[in-house]
Amino acid sequence: MSDMLEIRDLTRRFGGGRTIFGTTKPQLTAVRGVSLDLKRGETLGIVGESGCGKSTLARMLVGLDRPSEGAIRLDGKDLTEGGAKALAARVQYVFQDPVSSLNPRHTIRQILEAPMKHLLRLNGSERKKRLADLCEAVNLNPDFLVRYPHEFSGGQAQRIGIARALAAEPDVVVLDEPVSALDVSVQAQVLNLLDRLKRERDLTYVFISHDLAVIESVATRVAVMYFGRVVETAPSRKLFAAPLHPYTDLLLNSAPVPGKQRLRAGGDTGELPDPYNPPSGCAFAERCPRVEEDCRRIDPPLEAKARGDDHRAACLHPLPAD
Ligand SMILES: Nc1ncnc2c1ncn2[C@@H]1O[C@H](COP(=O)(O)OP(=O)(O)O)[C@@H](O)[C@H]1O
Ligand code: SF4
Ligand SMILES: [Mg+2]
Repeated sequence: MSDMLEIRDLTRRFGGGRTIFGTTKPQLTAVRGVSLDLKRGETLGIVGESGCGKSTLARMLVGLDRPSEGAIRLDGKDLTEGGAKALAARVQYVFQDPVSSLNPRHTIRQILEAPMKHLLRLNGSERKKRLADLCEAVNLNPDFLVRYPHEFSGGQAQRIGIARALAAEPDVVVLDEPVSALDVSVQAQVLNLLDRLKRERDLTYVFISHDLAVIESVATRVAVMYFGRVVETAPSRKLFAAPLHPYTDLLLNSAPVPGKQRLRAGGDTGELPDPYNPPSGCAFAERCPRVEEDCRRIDPPLEAKARGDDHRAACLHPLPAD
């Protein structure tokens, strides 16, 4: 599989600079030096507890936000530079909250036609054909095209959100907590739909969730985020069988049995560091059962740890490879 999306040293800071009174505004770094490769046809799962920078990363990938530093390349072309608009259609976004992500004053037809008009420049008859195709793809009754978003349930609205993302004929879909706001019974339906669409349309997914059980069920490869960084990345099976990073281990051990109580990543195991006062060494040191003195000085880079080049962790004292 070739790399289609290359993410290099991506950093996003918020705040900073000076106020009109000359005082310094506080600054936080939501995403710090993230490098990832997305391979054509895979589902890259990104997991981590709330506030670790998942949505900030996602928004940069789809061009809704610009990185402070770093590059995003799609098939070798830089998306963070000018002229990226033509490529923008190729990476689409599905939001967490399905109903509020749809314009309440537009009908479903208007919502689905907008990307066809503005990104693909399709004419009336082409749009009609594509609308019919989309309705069929997401099991939406075409009679509902004249309705407004508030008339739909969460699951139906998320199917419309997915149809809107597909309307632009993307290669990559970034799904930011696409089922987190839905009832458990509806989650499985939407996950099945996403799986079928991926196969039928040769899509590549970046699937973001705080829920490790969801990630395990969908991802071919996983990146675990902690405090703005990727701290472990590996093929899904490797990561779930034997994690290297103590944070991943903690997430796995706090995960309930599938089908039982839902996972809250991180559980009651502690809190993220203060983003306005980041620690100098490893950001996980305060919570880490394997912490040693050097962890408070050195911020470990993401690197391979004797389990093959495809299994990397940012840790000075990773779990043993028994
Ligand atoms: N527009 C913004 N301005 C200031 N801080 C932000 C902004 N967006 C996100 N953040 C901060 O960045 C960090 C990461 O947030 P986010 O990317 O939403 O995390 P996640 O999606 O993993 O919950 C949080 O500390 C959040 O408060
Ligand atoms: S570097 Fe040290 S504190 Fe950080 S995760 Fe590894 S063992 Fe724990
Ligand atoms: Mg988020």
